[in-house]
Amino acid sequence: MTPTTASAPAKIILTGEHAVVYNEPALVMAINRRAYVTVAQTRGDSVEIRSNDLKQAEHFTLNEGPEGHSRKSSINRLQPYLVLARQISRKAGYSGGFKISIRSEIPISAGLGSSAAVGVAMSAALANSLDVKLSRDKISKIALESEKIFHGHPSGIDNLISSQGGLLVFRRNEGFLRIEGPAKLRLVIGMTNVERSTAEQVAQVAATVSEHRDVGQLLLHCIGHLTIETVGAIREGNVQAMGRLLSLNHWLVNALGVSHPTVDRLVYVSLEAGALGAKLTGAGGGGCMIALVTSETEHAVAQAIKREGATPLLAKLSKAGVQSES
Ligand code: PMV
Repeated sequence: MTPTTASAPAKIILTGEHAVVYNEPALVMAINRRAYVTVAQTRGDSVEIRSNDLKQAEHFTLNEGPEGHSRKSSINRLQPYLVLARQISRKAGYSGGFKISIRSEIPISAGLGSSAAVGVAMSAALANSLDVKLSRDKISKIALESEKIFHGHPSGIDNLISSQGGLLVFRRNEGFLRIEGPAKLRLVIGMTNVERSTAEQVAQVAATVSEHRDVGQLLLHCIGHLTIETVGAIREGNVQAMGRLLSLNHWLVNALGVSHPTVDRLVYVSLEAGALGAKLTGAGGGGCMIALVTSETEHAVAQAIKREGATPLLAKLSKAGVQSES
């Protein structure tokens, strides 16, 4: 049986992280960095999952043993994906083994959706290998299962954007709408290289909201409104307004207790260097920030981020969601 490969993109959340967990809308964009997963069927029922980036390989049994719930254990960074092999094999009535290898261009634990991109690409590669026809929507739902093991109670935004690609506004209990942006969005990502856990940051927000119920709910609701205004600004091609809304989103989500001094510093220096707006992206607590730039300010902003000891990456919209590579 020839191996089959699928890929899926990373993402940046433009507005609405954390609020999206509480059913507020969020705006999310797939970017031009991808995870690639190759699946080969093997004899027996052993499942080997190998990650080039983690320099790690783990062996499991398709039909026996736990699915894996040890989010804190670094040994088990690959085990959550076993649930995908099991689900798709069950659908196909397959009880053989797999050799699965992961290659990714997406930084890990940085808020760019690397675990979801791997889960989405793996679900697609497994389905292709076993000739199971799955819609993008179904792939997203299957990949949510490994996300739950990684992150606890994810909103589902990462697996959604990674399977659909493009620019989407998403509300947890309602679904998504595709936004056809007029202006090209030019963004610089600032990677702090500070690793953090999404589950811990989500718990931090839950603690703030439970301690200060009214203020917490108002902040979340404000962020939801801000997403709707940002969609309006994008549709009008008003990047200046969009920039101001992104910065406003940074301070609102900051008030919920999830920023990090390095992220805040990168936001300041980006604005000083001419960014139209800047904010943390993803769960916060380290990870990445984004700055909305123009062709004139892109270089200066990237340099300012670099001077702070962080890593700048230029991000472009990727219209391609999950896709087959072979
Ligand atoms: O940092 P990431 O890529 O895991 O993004 C998490 C986004 C949150 O809104 C904080 C959590 C979620 O499940 O939506």
